[in-house]
Amino acid sequence: MMQAAEFLQSRNAVHASAPGRVNLIGEHTDYNDGFMLPVATPQRTHVSAGPSTDGKFHFYSATLDETVVWSGNALPEAGFSRYMIGCIELLAKQSGAIPPLRMFVNSTLAVGSGLSSSAALELATLRALRQFLGLSLDDVVLAQIAQQAEIHYAGVNCGIMDQMASSLADERQMLFLDARTLQTRLLPMPADSELIVIDTGIARKLAATGYNTRRTECETASAMLGLRALRDVQNPATVERLEEPYRRRARHVVQENLRVLAACEAIDAQQFGKLMNASHASLRDDYEVSIPELDELVGLLQAEPDVYGARLTGAGFGGACVALCRQGKAAEIGQRVLATYNSHQTEGGEPRDGQLLIPSVVAVGGAAQ
Ligand code: GLA
Repeated sequence: MMQAAEFLQSRNAVHASAPGRVNLIGEHTDYNDGFMLPVATPQRTHVSAGPSTDGKFHFYSATLDETVVWSGNALPEAGFSRYMIGCIELLAKQSGAIPPLRMFVNSTLAVGSGLSSSAALELATLRALRQFLGLSLDDVVLAQIAQQAEIHYAGVNCGIMDQMASSLADERQMLFLDARTLQTRLLPMPADSELIVIDTGIARKLAATGYNTRRTECETASAMLGLRALRDVQNPATVERLEEPYRRRARHVVQENLRVLAACEAIDAQQFGKLMNASHASLRDDYEVSIPELDELVGLLQAEPDVYGARLTGAGFGGACVALCRQGKAAEIGQRVLATYNSHQTEGGEPRDGQLLIPSVVAVGGAAQ
């Protein structure tokens, strides 16, 4: 593995970083112009950028120990550099040509765990570019460019939550985000609470297909209701007239938006936890994006006396879940629940590979706690 100084070969390099996100509540609402409440992860992706002297872009991921050289023509088929090239090309359209660079990437965010490692990579890349080129682009514009990179270079027709969260969220406060207006507000977490985040270890199979199907179903539902987006449903009873599966999909979105608004009302941790539990049930039964492993983990967490509430977080189809628990209890509960979960076998009989992501066992900077 190369060190940054060795790879960058320049004293004129800049350094930037961006976090992943954990969404506390408000799932599959962003592409319906709705509301959500993410927080930033303590884990971050770091990108350093310096000049390249051979006319080509050089990307190195220390996390993957992988180098990609790009001469500005054909795109690499897949991999971390595609996200970075997407950001470079889209930024160039907006701000003018970007000179060849050497870019060094390092991350404490587990790839594919559902904490938006791709958004963190995009935002860290764009922040490094903004700094290196001395551009005055605000954080919302950076998030919008990052979302376009995800859509056009990674092929996921995603909403804007992950990129907005990576760009604007905070680790200790919740970011209220209105996906239509892109207005944000930082709100305090419920008193006497902290987070547990556990990855199921199940890669998000069929996520892109399932995600895009849900998106289309929501668009169909809002067209049937004659609305611009499901955010505009005024009376929740109107969605009950829709045929299946549109009825349940729309019901989830409408109720989830109401739950987010309720969660913003400075409620206590118990009430907040109840909303999280209801969110999970709705994602499982109405939106159908959960999987048995997520349901099991969420069930184990909800059964803990000091857990206020738990739900899957992110798109679903695999990935991670989040719980809100009594302050000071997260590490103990997280480890206990994880041990139980990992002691069970997968359907195929292999050992399970769940992981405690928060409280993080790897401190920022890489040292073990
Ligand atoms: C993924 C997408 C987001 C959002 C969530 C579900 O993380 O990238 O835009 O739609 O799923 O809430």
